[in-house]
Amino acid sequence: MRKICDKVLALGVQDKKRKLFDALIPLPDGTSYNSYLVTGDAKTAVIDAADPMFVDEWLNNLKETGAKPDYIVANHAEQDHSGGIVDFLREYPEAKVVTNLKCREMLSCLLHIPEEKFILVADREKLELGGLSLEFYLTPWVHWPDTMFTYLREEEVLFPCDFLGAHYASDDLFVRDEQLVYRSAKRYYAEIMMPFRPQIRKYLALAKNLNPKIIAPSHGQVYNRPEFILSAYDEWSGERTRDVLILYVSMHESVRRMAERIQRELEGSSVTVKSLDLVEADLGEVAMELVDVEAVLIGSPTVLGGAHPAAAYAAFLFNALRPKAKYLGIFGSYAWGGRMVEQLAGLVTNVKPEVLPPMVVKGLPTEEDEEKISAWTREMADNLKISH
Ligand code: FEO
Repeated sequence: MRKICDKVLALGVQDKKRKLFDALIPLPDGTSYNSYLVTGDAKTAVIDAADPMFVDEWLNNLKETGAKPDYIVANHAEQDHSGGIVDFLREYPEAKVVTNLKCREMLSCLLHIPEEKFILVADREKLELGGLSLEFYLTPWVHWPDTMFTYLREEEVLFPCDFLGAHYASDDLFVRDEQLVYRSAKRYYAEIMMPFRPQIRKYLALAKNLNPKIIAPSHGQVYNRPEFILSAYDEWSGERTRDVLILYVSMHESVRRMAERIQRELEGSSVTVKSLDLVEADLGEVAMELVDVEAVLIGSPTVLGGAHPAAAYAAFLFNALRPKAKYLGIFGSYAWGGRMVEQLAGLVTNVKPEVLPPMVVKGLPTEEDEEKISAWTREMADNLKISH
């Protein structure tokens, strides 16, 4: 069994083959469902369960320790961490589920766990295990309303569940290659945590104040150098931004030419720019690039009188993930008219970036159009420099 420290063992399972999470999020590095066993002098607690697909492997890991757990702490009700609780309670019928009120409501709804199985804890309440105690910190909205941290003060181990995690499967328990994990954790932050930036800032301060020696999240590897992931979250959730991200889709080269013209124009200035073709980039790549960019430009052809679905998807994602971008620009091409610009702009309602005047051309851009695109780009770049 894998040892985190004297009183804590890792029970989790690696899911190296999974390709999609929530039938939505690509998993280039697989994922893991982490779970931990904390052994006090009098009582034993398991922190979080595993995904139902891996419940047998997880329970076998637990049985191999010979422990008879008194408690299972549910930091979060989403089934990748809670799904195994039903089988756990069948195996250990005397054990109780320790969680907060909101999480209990959700577990009752999602897993039909009866009310008498729960012990409810409030913010900053403790659970004594004998020589050890678990402290609970309610941290709603990272990323569900039920989420909480569990802190093992005597061993200085923080269990923040999804928060600070990464979809990263590995046989190494602790982070060895911070560069690899940085990318994976940023992708995870972008896809799952970014919409909750104000809450993230608050709970990041809480995690720093607790000053753990080890951070043991419920996805990815364990951090024995917590400052690595804490400073990465500080960077991603802070105010600093890079400059321009172009997200475009092109059917017959017109929009690609526009995107390339914008990129060339910016490359000749002090403004930094990155461009992604929405047909090639996956959701995670787009999300990751949105984390710290100041201006997002979405380029679309006109299809059936409106926006291309890939461009609509980018606008939808921008709206859902709520990046800190201050500017949104829409550009594109049409052959006989349509409502491409209105449709894309209409998808952005959750956030209020300054929407730049659209840049639309008819058909393949002419030389005159190219000059207009350059002027439009220079004006946007000047605005960015002013706001810097
Ligand atoms: Fe990893 Fe929100 O579940």
